Amino acid sequence: MKIAIIGAGKVGGALGKAWAKAGHYIIFGVRSPGQGKTQPPVAEIGAGATVQAVADAAHSSDIIVLATPWPAVPDAIKAMGELRGKVLIDCTNPLSLNGDGSLSLSLGSTTSGAEEIEKLAPGVHVVKAFNTYGWENFADAAYPNAAGLKPVMFYCGDHDAAKVTVNQLAADLGFEPVDTGGLGMARSLEPLALLWIRLNIRESRNANFTWARLTR
Ligand SMILES: NC(=O)c1ccc[n+]([C@@H]2O[C@H](COP(=O)([O-])OP(=O)(O)OC[C@H]3O[C@@H](n4cnc5c(N)ncnc54)[C@H](OP(=O)(O)O)[C@@H]3O)[C@@H](O)[C@H]2O)c1
Repeated sequence: MKIAIIGAGKVGGALGKAWAKAGHYIIFGVRSPGQGKTQPPVAEIGAGATVQAVADAAHSSDIIVLATPWPAVPDAIKAMGELRGKVLIDCTNPLSLNGDGSLSLSLGSTTSGAEEIEKLAPGVHVVKAFNTYGWENFADAAYPNAAGLKPVMFYCGDHDAAKVTVNQLAADLGFEPVDTGGLGMARSLEPLALLWIRLNIRESRNANFTWARLTR
């Protein structure tokens, strides 16, 4: 698949490298090609990736991964232009910093970042995914000591065909994809990210853990 990744930082860079390795073609969309604080890993990926301005990247692909900081989301969506009918994989988390240095979700529990993104881009097929744990696990999903268990990739959205695409993209990286329901389920997936971040901090910034599902 041809995948446009808007925001080529830790999450966008890790996903781009991993999907390129799985055979997908990556178009990193950045504000000023060659000038950003973070540089997309196009040299590392080689022929499987390119970098373009945000609007061109979004225009070039029907699958868009949004991986910017939450405060940048409105600008990024505006810069992308017409998105109707495209799949938008929302990896963002609406985090805000409290006075004591801790983190909260800035939107409360009666909406979610994913639902707000859908309002900003009418007609786009938003799927929330790749948000519930750290980027280190997107770069490498392997847990060799987990007795065959794979990390789960929870996702949600209202558009079935878009969810099939995301399911495949998650499986391609070695995750067990789990469809959690409609886009409103992002109200549960975004707090799950906060739990991961709080555990990560509590465990001296250990990023080598993720979520798995036991069933019987
Ligand atoms: N870090 C994690 O482990 C993790 C895991 C899951 C989800 N998330 C969520 O994923 C999102 C990205 O996190 P991150 O850690 O990857 O952040 P990051 O490393 O700071 O990267 C953010 C990227 O977004 C770009 N950007 C900023 N404003 C933009 C705009 N208006 N238009 C286009 N690109 C813009 C930045 O480009 P410049 O270099 O030009 O500033 C940078 O490449 C956040 O919402 C975060 O909550 C993070």
